[in-house]
Amino acid sequence: MKIILLGAPGAGKGSQAAIITEKYGIPHISTGDVLRANIKQGTELGKFAKEYLDKGELVPDEVVVDIVANRIKEEDCKKGFLLDGFPRTIEQAKALDKLTEIDIVINIVVDFDLIIDRITGRRMCACGATYHITTYSSDTCKACGGKLYQRKDDTVETVANRLEVYNKQTAPLIEYYKNKGILKDVNGSISIQATFEQVQKLLE
Ligand code: AP5
Repeated sequence: MKIILLGAPGAGKGSQAAIITEKYGIPHISTGDVLRANIKQGTELGKFAKEYLDKGELVPDEVVVDIVANRIKEEDCKKGFLLDGFPRTIEQAKALDKLTEIDIVINIVVDFDLIIDRITGRRMCACGATYHITTYSSDTCKACGGKLYQRKDDTVETVANRLEVYNKQTAPLIEYYKNKGILKDVNGSISIQATFEQVQKLLE
């Protein structure tokens, strides 16, 4: 199964991706995670991408298309994969069409009022675990014991720009995939588990 998770920043793509990929045993491909890992390692790609992420702007299409094109060629993607945060522009979607055929696009629809709180309250661990300060108050990861931190682009100012970028450049993908007949909406304004139950119905 080849799945795209679509949704505004903070809609819950990463949270759903973690559950889906564990349950269905397919790789989770997050372009945001790949870019952040490169920034952390100080690679040329990371040095180039950093200023875009810090401002909440999109990294140029050709850079992310290249990342995905190389990743989905790998052996573990033969049985399917889940794309999280890609595509994010019509150009990226058209490039993806040339690479492979997607089975389903799950669009996580979330009340915009929830987004600022979700993102500014998010805490991350280097192991990939994600928490929210309202449901987890410790600063230590319960999965690995690592120290939790806040993403640099999770400030109120940067989130406002990320939402503007989403509305202008990514929201048009909803119509693009609707026209292809593969878009399915789920309500992401409810709990993570209740959102996943809707996803599960679509996948089974
Ligand atoms: P990326 O890493 O993709 O970030 P994003 O799309 O902005 O999404 P987020 O990771 O912020 O949110 P999410 O939807 O995954 O929510 P989460 O599950 O964590 O991209 C970052 C940057 O990289 C971009 O700005 C851009 O610069 C660059 N980039 C990446 N891909 C690119 C591309 N294709 N092209 C160009 N540039 C690209 O949840 C958020 C919080 O809410 C968490 O605390 C979570 O615990 C909580 N939460 C989640 N769901 C629920 C729920 N149902 N109920 C209550 N709380 C919830």
